[in-house]
Amino acid sequence: MFTRKFERRIYIAAAVVVSSLTIGVSFGTYALWPANLEIGYQPAQPIEFSHAIMAGQFKIECIYCHSRAEQSAHATIPPTSTCMKCHTEIQTKDARGAVKANIQKLLKYWEEKTPIPWEKVYDLADFVYFDHSRHLTAAAKLDCVDCHGKVETMDRVERVYSLKMRWGLDCHMEPPPAGSPPWQKTRAPIHCSTCHR
Ligand code: HEC
Ligand code: HEC
Ligand code: HEC
Ligand code: HEC
Repeated sequence: MFTRKFERRIYIAAAVVVSSLTIGVSFGTYALWPANLEIGYQPAQPIEFSHAIMAGQFKIECIYCHSRAEQSAHATIPPTSTCMKCHTEIQTKDARGAVKANIQKLLKYWEEKTPIPWEKVYDLADFVYFDHSRHLTAAAKLDCVDCHGKVETMDRVERVYSLKMRWGLDCHMEPPPAGSPPWQKTRAPIHCSTCHR
């Protein structure tokens, strides 16, 4: 129908369109796939509270604020009164001589006695049972960094691991530590009721 040269151009054009569509769709699917959406989740917070400043620069211990982590299932988010142990005094001013905007926000929540509406970064489905203390003490001896990444370097907390079933099972299924009783076949229990009860 066309000259051979023109025909070849049509083939090349078609090949370019098809391959760019394929690449585009693959990237799109990857980016929007639920499991991948979970990692990198980094919601904006009502106050720009920086772990990099608090836990990194000023080396305040994680447990100072997340005080229940070693004793209970929940690490808990600190109440405003914990912030005020320091910020009744610490009210640093910016270059224009006004109290820093984010500290002003903190003081406003405190004066109005409204809890700060922090956005959750991690939120497992309700049918999963998870206990912080079990993982931090006793045999497990994990550290915050093993599941939450280097929070002390984050200006805004970001999810670095999915904390999904596969991720948890992979760790539970590792070989038991040296000196474990002979009947223990895995690092941690893997029956369903460990995590679903
Ligand atoms: C001065 C108090 C303070 C210290 C110290 C602190 N945190 Fe936090 N942390 C908070 C507050 C407030 C939030 C909620 C706002 C946010 O997500 O940034 C939070 C949120 C988090 C979250 C996300 C919780 C969620 O699911 O919403 C994780 C994980 C976390 N902190 C881990 C750590 C670790 C690990 C350390 C130590 C390296 C640490 N924190 C030190 C106050 C603190
Ligand atoms: C143990 C003391 C201590 C506690 C507890 C504490 N802070 Fe701070 N905070 C500091 C210090 C020190 C600074 C650094 C001084 C500065 O740069 O303003 C600071 C700075 C800040 C800043 C200003 C960061 C900037 O540069 O804009 C904000 C906002 C802030 N803190 C919020 C909070 C919140 C919210 C809490 C409670 C979850 C909290 N702080 C708990 C000591 C503390
Ligand atoms: C074995 C993995 C693991 C370790 C170790 C761990 N966490 Fe968590 N953390 C989780 C999971 C899973 C969740 C979500 C729990 C939920 O949604 O029910 C969570 C949630 C949180 C939250 C949100 C509030 C809450 O209690 O649900 C904070 C804050 C937190 N972790 C802080 C810490 C701190 C601080 C440490 C170290 C002292 C730590 N975590 C160690 C897995 C871990
Ligand atoms: C190490 C902990 C752990 C063990 C053991 C475990 N699960 Fe899960 N399970 C999870 C977590 C975490 C999720 C994800 C929840 C979420 O999406 O927030 C999950 C999710 C699920 C879901 C929902 C579908 C999905 O994939 O999100 C089903 C169904 C399920 N588990 C069944 C089981 C069965 C059956 C067993 C035993 C063979 C089992 N689980 C053992 C931790 C575990």
